[in-house]
Amino acid sequence: MTTSPVSLLVAKLADDIRSGKLLPGARLPTHRQLAVRHGVAVASASKVYAQLTSMGLVIGETGRGTFVRDRPQQREWDSGDEARLSASTVDLSFNHPTWPGQADLLRTMLRELASCGDLAALLHQQPPGGRRHERRIVAAFLARARGIRAEAEQVFLVNGAQQGLDIAVRALLRPHDAVAVDALTYPGFKMLAEIQGLALQPVPGAPEGPDLEALDALCRRQRIRAIYAMPTLHNPLGWVLTAGQRGRLAEIARRHDCLLIEDASYAYLADNAPPALATLAPERTVHISSLSKSVASGLRFGFVVVPETCAGRVKAVIRASYWSLPSVVTTMATRWVANGTVARQEKLMRSEARRRQAIARDVLSGMDVAAHPASLFLWLRLPEDLRMDRVTTALAACGIAVSKAEAYATTRHAPHALRLGLASMPAERIRPVLGQVRGVIERFPV
Ligand SMILES: Cc1ncc(COP(=O)(O)O)c(C=O)c1O
Repeated sequence: MTTSPVSLLVAKLADDIRSGKLLPGARLPTHRQLAVRHGVAVASASKVYAQLTSMGLVIGETGRGTFVRDRPQQREWDSGDEARLSASTVDLSFNHPTWPGQADLLRTMLRELASCGDLAALLHQQPPGGRRHERRIVAAFLARARGIRAEAEQVFLVNGAQQGLDIAVRALLRPHDAVAVDALTYPGFKMLAEIQGLALQPVPGAPEGPDLEALDALCRRQRIRAIYAMPTLHNPLGWVLTAGQRGRLAEIARRHDCLLIEDASYAYLADNAPPALATLAPERTVHISSLSKSVASGLRFGFVVVPETCAGRVKAVIRASYWSLPSVVTTMATRWVANGTVARQEKLMRSEARRRQAIARDVLSGMDVAAHPASLFLWLRLPEDLRMDRVTTALAACGIAVSKAEAYATTRHAPHALRLGLASMPAERIRPVLGQVRGVIERFPV
């Protein structure tokens, strides 16, 4: 039983936060006010806030006070058991990059926006796909940072890579079209395919990438309209295709007249990757990426580069659906792109990912792990006779949420494996949390 005044107060405030009685962002009483209100010492009030902070429920900002934390790890949008994560769960199933300085970056930008000459322009409707000067900024960034040459008219601003995929599919494919995908692929594309009625055709994976001969054979057997690929930092396996593999992939797409959907959401993490598919086969590649994995997943800013011949259809779909992004978002994001913030942040995340991955490798050494050294996630294969479900249930009981292989599998049988995201938790939690994961797995009788 919890009887100390501190524990009682922690439990009460935690309850109020979890039940929504105290809303995210609400300012909490000062330590002194809390002490007076509940008849406890100021030191006890400080202990209460320290415990709530370590539970991830509140956040203290120097000189400003203590606030109820907005909790991205609460996956209110999902249904199902795994989604009912408590506020204190460590969520390794999503990668929401959080980094020191994120709040300051936003604060500075909001001040900059507030003092800009024509503030009302932020309330103006944008043309479908974005304002030309902002599309130009993104086109210049793609040339500089990714080696992709495209006119501003081929670049469309979207609400994250997921919407980019949706727009591409709706503009360029039809229900029942067959799309080749990796046997393990990004779950968001699977969901989209289901909603849009696409027929996904799995291509077996070799350790270093898709089996391209199997892909070629598949394209010879049946009409494949598109190939969905993540050539640089594949989610979940982390592979980076060589120049030779990319050339072969482009050649297969050309020979069988397939559209290439290149998802580059995590590509920025790999230093010196070979050229993007969009440079090898620009006439048939839709290249999609966002700032979700480098700057912030809640910013909702992404971009799609399409072949010139597809721009009209893409624009029509955008016009018929979301029309344009909010100008506040595009102004902030393109200013960060233009003033070098995004490039700096990408560099920072590359070294942060390497650091996190090295810790993870160390903690999980001897286990069957597949990951790129600069990846923000890893693929942990479980011993054959270990049931994935039992492991995830045991991990959930310890307050750790992970993704199961079945979310990624496009084949009937999913391998027994887990994907662990390393971006959402503070770096200092990686060692203890992965140590717990290891402990749980090793406790199961094999
Ligand atoms: C491979 C891949 N593509 C697309 C997305 C969607 O990203 P966004 O948040 O930019 O919509 C994700 C997000 O996890 C991803 O992993």
